[in-house]
Amino acid sequence: EIAEVTGVQTCALPICAPPMAASLAIAATAFAAPSRPAVGAERAGVQMSGVARNANFGKLQAGYLFPEIGRRRSAYLAANPDANIISLGIGDTTQPVPSHILSGLVAGASKLGTKEGYSGYGAEQGMGPLREKIASALYDGKVDATEVFVSDGSKCDIGRLQMMFGSGVTSAVQDPSYPVYVDTSVIMGQTADMDATSKQYGNIVYMPCNPSNNFFPDLSSTPRADVVYFCSPNNPTGAAASREQLQQLVDWCNKQGSILVFDAAYAPFIRSADVPKSIFEIEGARTCAIEVNSFSKYAGFTGVRLGWTVVPKELVWADGSSVAADFNRIMCTVFNGASNVVQSGAMACLDKDGLAEIQVLIDYYMENAAMLRQAMLDIGLEVHGGTDAPYVFVDLEGKSSWDMFSELLETAQVVTIPGAGFGPGGEGFLRLSAFAPREACE
Ligand code: MLT
Repeated sequence: EIAEVTGVQTCALPICAPPMAASLAIAATAFAAPSRPAVGAERAGVQMSGVARNANFGKLQAGYLFPEIGRRRSAYLAANPDANIISLGIGDTTQPVPSHILSGLVAGASKLGTKEGYSGYGAEQGMGPLREKIASALYDGKVDATEVFVSDGSKCDIGRLQMMFGSGVTSAVQDPSYPVYVDTSVIMGQTADMDATSKQYGNIVYMPCNPSNNFFPDLSSTPRADVVYFCSPNNPTGAAASREQLQQLVDWCNKQGSILVFDAAYAPFIRSADVPKSIFEIEGARTCAIEVNSFSKYAGFTGVRLGWTVVPKELVWADGSSVAADFNRIMCTVFNGASNVVQSGAMACLDKDGLAEIQVLIDYYMENAAMLRQAMLDIGLEVHGGTDAPYVFVDLEGKSSWDMFSELLETAQVVTIPGAGFGPGGEGFLRLSAFAPREACE
């Protein structure tokens, strides 16, 4: 029938097989990349696959920041086995999980040992009651339970959001910022190479956030980006954006048609009055914002793993289709739901007793932050943060942050994080983490 319509003759396989095979062989020769090693080739005694590396990895300038810090710490310890290292580096909790929250984890684990209580795969979006409890206890009904996607942490969710955004978007980040936003943008292929002088990747919009602008970008001179990552209270600067600033940000995103990925992982550490703890406290956020969040830092869940992402129903792509529907598709495809044991622990976090225990943990870390702040002030340095966030950002008065990192490690056995690890805007600063035992801060 096709031959009749188009006039092109189809031919039966036995007749045309030899010429087709010959032309395929010619085509294969023509398209073979000469520099590519033969499949299974061996070079310098190393057996190689025939798979080309994702070229975006070649754009990354170094390993991921926190393992790199860990590597330097271990190298120092290997050379100085008696060193008594004080860790004010990675934001990793040190206090044990409090008893009520722990009882939730234990109950979740125990249920699995009974015929009636056992459960296998759960909903990819999280248990219904937990989604309800997050919406009511933490968002005061400003988001619906069906808009909450429970997960194994906000860092993992940022990776999954990037998978949803794909390689064709442009992203904007605060500079300095939590390195996950930039590194995942690079790996996804959204960026060009890093410029050796500016230390910025091409096709990323860097929004300077420093003492001169009170750590809030000048949006009037910021170019449009499709996706805007914004963390408040901020990691690493410790700055918390005011209600007015967040309103400006939301208005700007709505006007530009950008999607705001708001990282609220440190929100409960806010002490200042009237500083929003969620972007959904801001008018207009439901048409532009996604919020990522986590129990890691305030319920001692860095190793336990539980986070969530809120995607409001009103948020749509340029073609009018639902962002939440696509995020749901991602979660169903690459995630099998948070651990049922951990979700039981998360339910306990949101009970009255759990919330009170969380407050005690927050107070503990914020007292550490106050001590670190004071110690830096006492030696005459300018410090930022540490009042609404568990990070203290120290101005090194023009000194290189990696040099200061090494000097502190070698002379005082204190591990910190160099500001430059968070982007070029962090150069000249050092981040101290208040997630440490009290003795470390004394
Ligand atoms: C840090 O800044 O120390 C990080 O937030 C660690 C992490 O949670 O990925």
